Amino acid sequence: MFDLTFPPNSHGDLDQDEEWCEVTVDGSRRRIRFHDYHEIYPIPGLYEHLFYDRLECSSPTTVRTLLEEELSAASKVPAGLRVLDVGAGNGMMGAELADMGVPTLVGVDIIEEAAAAAERDRPGLYEDYMVADLTDLSAEDRGRLAEVRFNCLVTVAALGFGDMPPTAFAEAYNSLETPSWVAFNIKEDFLEGDDRGDFSGLIARMLEKGALEERARRRYRHRLSAAGEPLHYLAMVAVKRADIPLESVLRLD
Ligand SMILES: C[S@@+](CC[C@H](N)C(=O)[O-])C[C@H]1O[C@@H](n2cnc3c(N)ncnc32)[C@H](O)[C@@H]1O
Repeated sequence: MFDLTFPPNSHGDLDQDEEWCEVTVDGSRRRIRFHDYHEIYPIPGLYEHLFYDRLECSSPTTVRTLLEEELSAASKVPAGLRVLDVGAGNGMMGAELADMGVPTLVGVDIIEEAAAAAERDRPGLYEDYMVADLTDLSAEDRGRLAEVRFNCLVTVAALGFGDMPPTAFAEAYNSLETPSWVAFNIKEDFLEGDDRGDFSGLIARMLEKGALEERARRRYRHRLSAAGEPLHYLAMVAVKRADIPLESVLRLD
C-alpha cells in the first residue's frame, strides 16, 4: 500500500522519539519522524500502515482487554461509560471503545490534524472532539468537559516523550467524576525502571495518597522499534478516588 522503509541498521539504535521512516507520497520520497503526527495524519492510511501493519502496535487492544477484564470483575458494563479519550489521534482507541459498547465518547487531541483525521477515518465515532492544549484550557473548554460528567479516562500511546505532561493528565483526570475508571499505557521505564520520568512521580504519589486505586497492571509488547526490537509498555487500569491538586503537579512539568 505504501512504499515505506526504515533507516538502515547503520543508523544504530535511535531513541524512540528519534525514529523515522521514508515513504513515497504523491510521487515524492519523504522522511517522516514517527512522532511528527501532524505530518502522518494528513496522509490517509499511513498511521495504521506504519504503526499497526508494519510495527505491530497492540496497545489499543491490550488496554481495551485490561479495561474489559476489570469492568467485568467489578460487575460493570461498558454501556455505562462516558469516556474521555485523551490523545485520541484518528480514533484507533476510540474504535475499540465503541466496539466494546461504550455509548459516549469524547476525544481530545492537541493538534488539528488529529481531529481532521478522526473525522475522515471514523466519522461520527466521537460525540465531540476537542482540539485543545490541556495545560492551557479555556474556561469554555473546561465547561465543555465538565458538562459530560465523564466516568472514564482513556489515554493510549500519548504519555511520555514530550507528548502529554503531568499537568495535562491531571487536568483531564480532574474533569472526571469520582469514582471513575482510568485506563492508560506508558513505556515501562517511565513507570518502573531506572529511566522514570515525571509521570511516574505523579502516578506514584496518586497511588500512595489513595487518589488513584490500582486495579491491574500488565507488561506487554507495545510495538516493534524501527530496527525490529520489541518495545515494552505497561497498561494500567485504576479507579479515581479523588482529584489531584493542580498546584502539586505543576512543579513536575
Ligand atoms: C501515538 S498517538 C496515539 C493516538 C491514539 N490514542 C491511538 O492509540 O492510536 C499520540 C497522540 O497524542 C497526541 N498528543 C500529544 N501530546 C498531547 C497533549 N499534550 N494533549 C493531547 N494530545 C496530545 C498526539 O497529537 C497524538 O495524536
